[in-house]
Amino acid sequence: MATAGKVIKCKAAIIWEAGKTPSVEEVEVAPPRSGEIRVKIVATGICRTDDHVLKGFFPNISYPVIAGHEGAGIVESVGPGVTCVKPGDKVIPLCLPQCGECDCCLSPKTNYCLKNHFQGSFQNWMPDKTNRFTCRGKQVYHFLWTSTFSEYTVLPEASIVKISDEAPLDKVCLFGCAFPTGYGAAINTAKVEPGSTCAIFGLGGIGLSVVIGCKTAGASRIIGVDINKSKFAKAKELGATECIAPQDFKKPINEVLMEMTGLGVDYAFEAIGRIDTEATALSSCHAGHGVCVLIGEPPAGSQLSITPIQLISGRKLTGCLVGGWKLKDALPKLVSDYMNKKFNTDTLITHVLPFEKIGEGFELLQTGKSIRCVLLF
Ligand code: APR
Ligand code: ZN
Ligand code: ZN
Repeated sequence: MATAGKVIKCKAAIIWEAGKTPSVEEVEVAPPRSGEIRVKIVATGICRTDDHVLKGFFPNISYPVIAGHEGAGIVESVGPGVTCVKPGDKVIPLCLPQCGECDCCLSPKTNYCLKNHFQGSFQNWMPDKTNRFTCRGKQVYHFLWTSTFSEYTVLPEASIVKISDEAPLDKVCLFGCAFPTGYGAAINTAKVEPGSTCAIFGLGGIGLSVVIGCKTAGASRIIGVDINKSKFAKAKELGATECIAPQDFKKPINEVLMEMTGLGVDYAFEAIGRIDTEATALSSCHAGHGVCVLIGEPPAGSQLSITPIQLISGRKLTGCLVGGWKLKDALPKLVSDYMNKKFNTDTLITHVLPFEKIGEGFELLQTGKSIRCVLLF
């Protein structure tokens, strides 16, 4: 392409400091270096994790930063040595890399690639500790090596996967985070069985993707829990059999769930990111064999307090990142399953806005009005 090897000027949403709304400005995006790929982002969702960056919940993040990790796009150019994709390929940036070489990538037991962005000493520049973005003469930091809130972004080879040429990018951007995160928590981490009883705390984009996973796995009871009752209709449409709001009961919601199920749920999922609801999710599980899966991200430094007998009795507490998928291996198949209508993720997209309206998109998320708002460049 004519732009290969050159700096590209384009629009991006810069978060200049924690607590500030993102401002859409012109940035310069340097060409990809060795082992890197520059991608033209076509569509990106807004996830609660991006809102955490906005609010400053991750103390190790340096600002100014370009957030965004739920995107889909087209390869513009590749740096020396890149073999996994070529210009013109449709791709999804991976918010958890798969380097293929580290101890975890070589193990079938985990997807926690050790070349990830938050391993050891956290840093939010590129793996070689330099940045590809500048704005108004200042270096701008990357986020998760994805930074999909920029029309062009640069990714390391471990953080990209090619998908089908026919994939609709304005829809499959959700495969960058929400859908595999929730769906995989049910399918891979909990391994929900037919006939089981599940409770999902938080019915946002991630919790609703858990609902899809539980339904696909054949769960017979799928109970949604959310303080925002406007989420219930969609949850039921996707497979929830019942939905409850904690504020409607005098008793704690774990006691309500115990009464509803007799002995507690087989599987509980926390897709909010609060330690109080994490503790409640665990307490809602069957004492002998219930499994509680943590998905949401509480503010950094949070401590979860549990009573050992809760686990000694046989409950299990676990968690997963991006649904436990090794993303390079899994995403092309998940996208083709979507295209073959194995599941319908389109219904998670409640709003579509031009990229310039990213501030409005965040507001929709913050006020609980959207499930997923997709921004189009
Ligand atoms: N009890 C029950 N539900 C709650 C509570 C609570 N105390 N607090 C918030 N919720 C609900 C919200 O009403 C909302 O429907 O949790 C849902 C969270 O959904 P989103 O904000 O859309 O978040 P989502 O993008 O789905 O991410 C969920 O996973 O990846 C992480 O950082 C992310 O921690 C976040 C979580
Ligand atoms: Zn996310
Ligand atoms: Zn790895």
